Amino acid sequence: MVDYELLTAQIRETVQAEPWFVPALSNVSALLMETLPDLNWAGFYILRGGELVLGPFQGKPACIHIALGKGVCGTAFSEDRPQNVPDVHAFPGHIACDSASNSEMVIPLHAGGKPVAVMDLDSPLLNRFTAEDAAGLQLAAQALEPLISWI
Ligand code: SME
Repeated sequence: MVDYELLTAQIRETVQAEPWFVPALSNVSALLMETLPDLNWAGFYILRGGELVLGPFQGKPACIHIALGKGVCGTAFSEDRPQNVPDVHAFPGHIACDSASNSEMVIPLHAGGKPVAVMDLDSPLLNRFTAEDAAGLQLAAQALEPLISWI
């Protein structure tokens, strides 16, 4: 079982040490990949120029631009709520970046109360993410919000 309190503390330390999003989110991507079993991709998409643009990540090269409201990431961002997708092939408009991905979790990140990015986790397993993962990852994502500098 993942220790989400520890992960959240590690994220808090990371962003306290470095407020700029590039190094901070790079290390948080690595932390996510190290901490959660059965992931094939972990990273971030950031609002830029009215669309989501690929940020720091671990995994295979991914699509760079995602329109708001499109795919799992764009839906999580536009609706401003997490998406826990047990089978991505059943999600209308899912954007396939790595053919190994079968389930996905996306959590919106906020600055000043508004969504500015999403945290995206992919798994080769169907139904990978439990309600406990969803709650733990939201806690972890919140630890990023006060300190990240998005420029
Ligand atoms: N599957 C995502 C696209 C990003 S990749 O998973 C890295 C989506 O549908 O938004």
